[in-house]
Amino acid sequence: MILIGVFDIASWWTIVIAFQVVVISTYFFWNKKKSKTYDPLCNGKAIEWNPIPIVEHDVTVEEPPLMGRIDDNVLNVGSSSFLALDKEESIMEDSLKSMEKYGVGSCGPRGFYGTIDVHLELEERLAKFLEVEETCVYSYGFSTIASAIPSYSKKKDIIFADERVWFAIQKGLDSSRSTVRFFKHNDMDHLKKLLSEAQQKKELNPKRRAFIVAEGIYLNTGEMCPLKRLVQLAREYKLRIILDESLTIGVLGKNGRGLTEHLGVPRHEIDLIVGSLEHSFATIGGFCAGTHFIVEHQRLSGLGYCFSASLPPMLTQAAISALNVIEGKPSIVGELIENSKKLNSALSKLKHYKFRGDEVSPIKHIYLKKDDLTDRLKHSYLRNITNYCLEKGVAMTLAAYIRDVEINCPEPSIRLTSSRKLTDDTISLVCSLLDEAYEKVGPKPELQPV
Ligand SMILES: *[C@@H]1O[C@H](CO)[C@@H](O)[C@H](O)[C@H]1NC(C)=O
Repeated sequence: MILIGVFDIASWWTIVIAFQVVVISTYFFWNKKKSKTYDPLCNGKAIEWNPIPIVEHDVTVEEPPLMGRIDDNVLNVGSSSFLALDKEESIMEDSLKSMEKYGVGSCGPRGFYGTIDVHLELEERLAKFLEVEETCVYSYGFSTIASAIPSYSKKKDIIFADERVWFAIQKGLDSSRSTVRFFKHNDMDHLKKLLSEAQQKKELNPKRRAFIVAEGIYLNTGEMCPLKRLVQLAREYKLRIILDESLTIGVLGKNGRGLTEHLGVPRHEIDLIVGSLEHSFATIGGFCAGTHFIVEHQRLSGLGYCFSASLPPMLTQAAISALNVIEGKPSIVGELIENSKKLNSALSKLKHYKFRGDEVSPIKHIYLKKDDLTDRLKHSYLRNITNYCLEKGVAMTLAAYIRDVEINCPEPSIRLTSSRKLTDDTISLVCSLLDEAYEKVGPKPELQPV
């Protein structure tokens, strides 16, 4: 009673609130002090942490830069414009007309206001040329196969691929997240072994999609795919085939329709033909060809198709005009094949080099015969040799070869290309220059002990 008399209700409340204020401020004060203290378990970690570099390989540029310019005075045996359509007047004129009509860019992906009549026309023309139901056109050669593979093959699926497939296919395989088995380059017996192993382990089953991925002619070796055996195996084990015809379209076959025409394999045996327009067609972009059922799927699930701006109309027109040229005069394909064969017989006479590449392949890889050198040294010699040749007026490509990086070339090489415009004289010039360069800047012969 007395207490209540002395402290009325209001005073009680004042004391309670004051007490709360004291407790809360002490709490914050202590907390602040605590966080300032050094905690070796937590703070020490940041000092000790020694991260591995983001870029693993230090690709130092130690070689001298390329000498000289590649212009009209230089013979270019590194360009993959096999049919030499990049110099064709009619194609240039048509493209310029198209630019005046449509402007430069297409301003959007195919599905979002980026489809223009020339795209539809090119798809129709390509389908007719390749004798398939349907094609779809991509705006970049590299991303065509790199998008096509993951649009069909998913995480649970399985892919059998040649070990020498080019970089875009490797990226396609990576992004598909499928199980990938590599068979030895062009070795169908090895592929058969892998397939029968997979079948025994029940890895091939109807619940899982299974694919074989191959190239018509391999960019990294210049060798042709044994397509007939491949088709047989695919049918025997029930796999689908994705064939990259980038280097065979406009290059092989009586009408330039590619490897299937060259080997007489029915087109419908190949489930999906993928190709680039950047070689023989002398423009940019790529295409996928097959049945309506297969190709249509990519229009919503091919990432490169859905999410890149479509091919600029003038370059689409260039592809149509290139088709006009090839269809109007299929004999130019024959001229190219003839030159590729001539190049093969000339290269086989080289003194200091060995080479690789199918007789009809427009791609040839030149390797040093001397094989007691490290890859790095070989690459450096080859670079000096290509530089020497460029100074003398012949441009060649040093095939990409970076140590530890999966470029997938068997060893350092110079990648020569054949073209419709090569003559007997230019072929012998290239070969004599290669040998001359070897003697000037190549490895010196060791002195034999007497
Ligand atoms: C290539 O040429 C450069 C510059 O002339 C030279 O320093 C280098 O040693 C050469 N490479 C080889 C493997 O001889």
